[in-house]
Amino acid sequence: MSQDTLTVTHSRTGMTAELPILEGTLGQPTVDINAFNSKFGYFSYDPGFVSTASCKSEITYIDGDAGILLHRGYPIEQLAERGTFLETAYLLINGELPTKHELDAFMHEVGGESMIHEALRHFFSGFHYDAHPMAMMVGVVGSLSAFYHNQIDINRRDDRRISAIRLLAKMPTIAAACYRHSIGMPFVYPRADRSYCENFLNMMFSVPGQNYPVDPIAAKVLNLLFILHADHEQNASTSTVRLASSTGANPYACIAAGIAALWGPAHGGANEAVIKMLTEIGDSSQIPKFIAKAKDKNDPFKLMGFGHRVYKNFDPRATIIRKACYAVLEKLDFNDPLFNLALELEEIALKDEYFIERKLYPNVDFYSGIIYKALGIPVEMFTVMFAIARTAGWTAHWLEMKDEPNQRIARPRQLYVGVPQREYVSIEKR
Ligand code: SDX
Repeated sequence: MSQDTLTVTHSRTGMTAELPILEGTLGQPTVDINAFNSKFGYFSYDPGFVSTASCKSEITYIDGDAGILLHRGYPIEQLAERGTFLETAYLLINGELPTKHELDAFMHEVGGESMIHEALRHFFSGFHYDAHPMAMMVGVVGSLSAFYHNQIDINRRDDRRISAIRLLAKMPTIAAACYRHSIGMPFVYPRADRSYCENFLNMMFSVPGQNYPVDPIAAKVLNLLFILHADHEQNASTSTVRLASSTGANPYACIAAGIAALWGPAHGGANEAVIKMLTEIGDSSQIPKFIAKAKDKNDPFKLMGFGHRVYKNFDPRATIIRKACYAVLEKLDFNDPLFNLALELEEIALKDEYFIERKLYPNVDFYSGIIYKALGIPVEMFTVMFAIARTAGWTAHWLEMKDEPNQRIARPRQLYVGVPQREYVSIEKR
């Protein structure tokens, strides 16, 4: 069967070009637009990449209209219900669910890389005690390459793999160290007898000289949140990791770039912004005022945790987290008025024509902070939690990209709207 094409015709010259249509396994087909340039000498124009596929990938599929999220073909609901975060990380990186032996070996390998160099530990004393933990994360993760300079040859498959394992393994240790620095508590080393999530909670909250029994409910719900935040196709931070990687930058630098991009309130920073917004709203009597602000074009305020570039239906992750909130708050006997406020805000917004017309629904960030609060995690750490989990997706995309043949540096073009060429004027004549 001949290649399906899109015929484009230049209205002024009548010149035509056949653009190849590329079909994937699932989802919308794409059009190879290189003929725009080679045939017409034109660039495509798509600010924000709303309609642009930047790559081919086998890792995650999202159907935004149906609210479907698949990781290597497995529905997020099934992974969340039956799996663990490290199993999901293995799946994202390797493409298949691990056997028990494979998972045990992966967990052992990640556990064995969870320590950080003692010299790196001293980096934290250079930060002011109230430095935002995301600022510390960007700096410390970016500096990891200084400790592994003999194993970051991105052209060597083994170096690429161990770098991904080290990043996955050390993110919780570094994250917990950020928190411990901010509260003036000593750094807690990871333990070999704790699972990934138990280790993180122990490194965050244990007190020297006291045994710290990790609450199994807390470890279980943290696993769930990490699974739900593990990957999400070509979101802004993953695209940042891919773009940085296209220059040949080392993996630690690429992930640090992803952490920086995630920090923005339009992206991963939204979970922190949601709690601050709910706190500012205070009680249900103020909801109409904030809904009006969100709808007011002259007001930059947006309803944080609402809306999504891809989902024009419920974000399946938000649905799962909302359900988990009920169970976790009850089991932890943690009554959070902000949860009730969030439920009321959602109910009112979803009945409002402005949100209905624009298909604005709660996204993954709307409820996650409710659970993080119940676990005792401070609001400034919420985006750090997102970064820990998304390291699985970032490294999976980085590895997928580095395995591709014919890699090219990512270098978008532009539509120049500045002044035409002009001559230099000496300062005396200005
Ligand atoms: C994440 O990409 C991913 O996959 C990201 C993520 C992941 O897992 O990696 O899912 C994680 O980042 C989730 C999103 C977290 N961000 C927020 O909750 C911040 C609040 N949301 C908005 O900033 C916004 O919805 C975005 C950034 C999420 C999406 O922005 P888009 O796709 O550019 O949408 P848009 O701004 O073009 O909105 C379309 C319309 C506009 O109104 P009109 O100009 O058509 O009149 O909807 C309005 C927007 O003003 N709108 C909102 C709104 N979100 C969109 N109005 C009020 N409140 C909002 N939250």
